[in-house]
Amino acid sequence: MKKKIVVLTGAGVSAESGFATFRDTGGLWEQFDVNEVASIEGWYRNRKLVLDFYNQRRAQLRDARPNAAHVAIAELEKRFDVDVITQNVDNLHERAGSTRVLHLHGELTKMRPENGEYDRSYSEKEVIDVGYDAVHLGDLAPNGSQLRPHIVFFGEAVPNIEKAIGLVEKADILLIVGTSLQVYPAAGLYRYASIDTPIYVIDPKPVPLSDKRVTMIQDVATKGMATFMELLRSVE
Ligand code: APR
Repeated sequence: MKKKIVVLTGAGVSAESGFATFRDTGGLWEQFDVNEVASIEGWYRNRKLVLDFYNQRRAQLRDARPNAAHVAIAELEKRFDVDVITQNVDNLHERAGSTRVLHLHGELTKMRPENGEYDRSYSEKEVIDVGYDAVHLGDLAPNGSQLRPHIVFFGEAVPNIEKAIGLVEKADILLIVGTSLQVYPAAGLYRYASIDTPIYVIDPKPVPLSDKRVTMIQDVATKGMATFMELLRSVE
């Protein structure tokens, strides 16, 4: 029976693929007002601004490539039962070969009908994969409503959080890569790991987790994954 590894990732795992993180110096939330481009209030205030913001990031994703950290995470599947839980909306884990990726904050290549301000429910079959194409005001879903990014905006619920908790509770090893752990509920996921589950954290900055299960690997994701793989050699 393969040991279960759960890998929780954030923007830092895609930094070496050329993507700005959110809260580092020069990060995305220094360049854009998060409330204007990534919140549900911002969407209803100015749909065009939000569509353009995600069009830009989708176009960048077309030309981006997974880095060695994404590949190393995918290669864990050779020896372990791996689930990736990512806060990222890029598809670099999938493109690196990871086969079980749970997106907490949505997916950049997908859109869905906005279904109006008072009924924001939707079904999975309404979600459309637009690849890396731009989407504009007036581009409508089959049900006639404006297409919106299939992204969890600030101010919206995180539909996959219960599933993520279930995965972390069963983890034999929890690996956290490239997240400042400042955005809940994702940031609280590690607490659901069992008391004897080792937690490894890869980040060039020391992440303030005062938890005796935590081993800090203070490095960038690509180098940190090499160190982590070394540490795993002793684990059958
Ligand atoms: N390798 C690994 N980690 C890195 C690297 C790198 N090369 N460069 C930066 N980091 C680390 C930073 O030190 C920081 O801890 O990645 C983390 C990035 O943190 P944030 O920018 O806050 O990104 P994240 O934690 O993913 O944000 C969570 O916030 O805005 C929302 O929805 C958005 O999913 C995002 C959520």
